[in-house]
Amino acid sequence: MTTTVARWRTARFLLDVVRAIRREVGDDFHLQAKISVTDFNNAVLPWEGKGNTKRESIKVCRWLEAAGVDAIHVSSGSLFPHPRNPAGALPVDALAKTYDTMVSSGRYAFRNLVIFRTPPLSQAFRWWWEHNRGPRVEAINLPDARAVKRAVGVPVLCTGGFQTASVIRAAITAGDCDAVTIARPLIANNELVELFRAGHDRAPRPCTYCNKCLVNVIENPLGCYEESRFASRDEMLAQIMSVYEPAFPASIMGDPVANGAIETRAKTVQDASPA
Ligand SMILES: Cc1cc2nc3c(=O)[nH]c(=O)nc-3n(C[C@H](O)[C@H](O)[C@H](O)COP(=O)(O)O)c2cc1C
Ligand code: SF4
Repeated sequence: MTTTVARWRTARFLLDVVRAIRREVGDDFHLQAKISVTDFNNAVLPWEGKGNTKRESIKVCRWLEAAGVDAIHVSSGSLFPHPRNPAGALPVDALAKTYDTMVSSGRYAFRNLVIFRTPPLSQAFRWWWEHNRGPRVEAINLPDARAVKRAVGVPVLCTGGFQTASVIRAAITAGDCDAVTIARPLIANNELVELFRAGHDRAPRPCTYCNKCLVNVIENPLGCYEESRFASRDEMLAQIMSVYEPAFPASIMGDPVANGAIETRAKTVQDASPA
């Protein structure tokens, strides 16, 4: 009972936030809510409660629509990260190096660091994490998005592993969602959308869902840290460090010469033959 009441209080907090933002920004400002439709709160610790269920979250989505959101973005998991978001591997070797940065930030952070740095424990934890994700990565949240889509009138976006044009097209064509959102596959292949436009169903070197980008970002620049995607470690590091040398600095965006360069770059990708 207490847990259910706590859940509804959390929903009320979310709705208060949405209404307050809407009051501030007015009606012509796009306001979207990202919601974990199924919490799977006991995915890592089986003795914990399940958290929000799909049925409860659908009610919350209807309230969000009534409170004035322009779209709902479907995700999952009560923690971040969670075995189901970003769905993929748990790179404990990389965590053993970067997680020290978190030690002052949470009650269980030191315990977690000890787990990540103690090989038999870290391998067991990794197995447990990946076992609780389940076999599906791409479109992992699509069943939840479909349920939300049937319940609300505003557009529904879906996150979770999308990087195959035919999978994305099928999801939208079936009416399971209005759009997908993409995070890691765009870190791996910044030009993924241009590759789709050029006829590729998938990038030649797709994201492996290793989650090394996620565990590095707490200490290192955002980028793809999956060495198997590169010819060498140096090539990988060069690409990561390229974030400090943007090809098109904000100061020249909008400039006709810069726009010409952007179009040329897009065409180069377009000309690449499909895999
Ligand atoms: C480095 C990194 C940082 C992220 N930060 C956030 C965040 O601040 N808020 C959020 O809702 N999701 C965050 N996410 C989750 C993504 O938005 C997305 O839901 C998730 O990665 C699954 O999508 P993907 O398979 O396209 O990566 C993050 C993901 C990554 C990889
Ligand atoms: S490190 Fe690269 S391959 Fe691994 S999940 Fe991140 S973007 Fe994908």
